[in-house]
Amino acid sequence: MPSFDTIYVGFHAATMVSTKDYGPIENAAIGVKHGQITWLGPVSELPNHTATIIDLGGGWVTPGLVDCHTHLVFGGDRSAEYEMRLQGASYQAIAKAGGGIVSTVTDTRNASAEALFTAAEKRLCALMADGVTCVEVKSGYGLDLVTEEKMLRVARSLGEKLSVTLQTTCLAAHAIPPEYQGQADAYIDLVCEEIIPAIAKAGLADAVDGFCEGIAFSVAQIERVFDTALAFDLPIKLHAEQLSNLGGSGLAARYKALSSDHLEYLSDADAKAMAIAGTVAVILPGAFFCLKETKQPPIQRLRELGVPMAIASDCNPGSAPVLSLRLMMNMACTLFGFTPLEALQGATRHGAQALGLGHSHGQLKVGYAADFVCWEIQKPAELSYWLGGQLVKHRVVAGQIT
Ligand code: NIG
Ligand code: FE
Repeated sequence: MPSFDTIYVGFHAATMVSTKDYGPIENAAIGVKHGQITWLGPVSELPNHTATIIDLGGGWVTPGLVDCHTHLVFGGDRSAEYEMRLQGASYQAIAKAGGGIVSTVTDTRNASAEALFTAAEKRLCALMADGVTCVEVKSGYGLDLVTEEKMLRVARSLGEKLSVTLQTTCLAAHAIPPEYQGQADAYIDLVCEEIIPAIAKAGLADAVDGFCEGIAFSVAQIERVFDTALAFDLPIKLHAEQLSNLGGSGLAARYKALSSDHLEYLSDADAKAMAIAGTVAVILPGAFFCLKETKQPPIQRLRELGVPMAIASDCNPGSAPVLSLRLMMNMACTLFGFTPLEALQGATRHGAQALGLGHSHGQLKVGYAADFVCWEIQKPAELSYWLGGQLVKHRVVAGQIT
């Protein structure tokens, strides 16, 4: 007897198991049990069974989208800063004048956990309605232990309440808090001696991230953060080469980071180091677009080197108030020259790899999570082609229609 208790039929599947094509199966069927895919193939090859049949009624099924880089828990908003930038103020100048990330820190410290939850839930529901079934959420607007913990607890409870796989990342090394102005090293002491150890012991983070940039932390400071993360067995990621080249991605590769993210100013040597280390390049077209950046990440070089490229929303109140991962797939194609196949890989299997979930998420495969989306489309390329609209017909998470 086949080992599934529900069988989904009535669609074509883009399994994403191959790196060369969509891994298509026409007129496919997916059998699920205990939240996992236990059978997958053409409906014509289905064995005899007594399972419940659910007909999705046409369209294409893909792995649920994986948004591997978000900051969706935060207090307040930065629409006033957006208006300042439209009038010519730069992101860096606003940050140096005490606005930017630090202004969100004030609003996040002042917000209750309930208020943070309610605001973040709306943003997460928007991402989910557009096909996301797995999401990463960073802290980084607390910059003290109490508020970093508050953010991560809110993120964990979002994952418990909503039908989504949610991974949390401690981004205490995101910016220098106001009370440590001019004392970045002393703040890194706090991050390494108090914040990361307490968060690791409480089991609140699945990974550790940092921001390596002129307006944030140096390579040497981030190296201390990485050493601390590894001492607590936490995998690492990095925001690097977003506004300038500091060589953070080379450091990330040396430390076998899961991913290095942004990468507009990535050097060739660091791209090569990422290829050798297997560090995923997370491309964030929303931040590039919203900051009117003109320097493009070196996509063709990353492609030639075989560096897996993921695409994420970077949902945050400053550089990327983005609520659609599919829109990011369109921008990756239109702005950066991704193919629609690469864009879907970026929002599925490579996104999962950037979270250390490449063995369980991001592909339709026996043994993988039964997380998939049925889309109202004729061809997979439409997922990158349409801007906006309601393409999701059904979302299935852990084997259940949600
Ligand atoms: O990924 N680059 C640093 N962090 C975020 C932006 C955070 C903010 O502006 O609030 C990013 O772009
Ligand atoms: Fe970010």
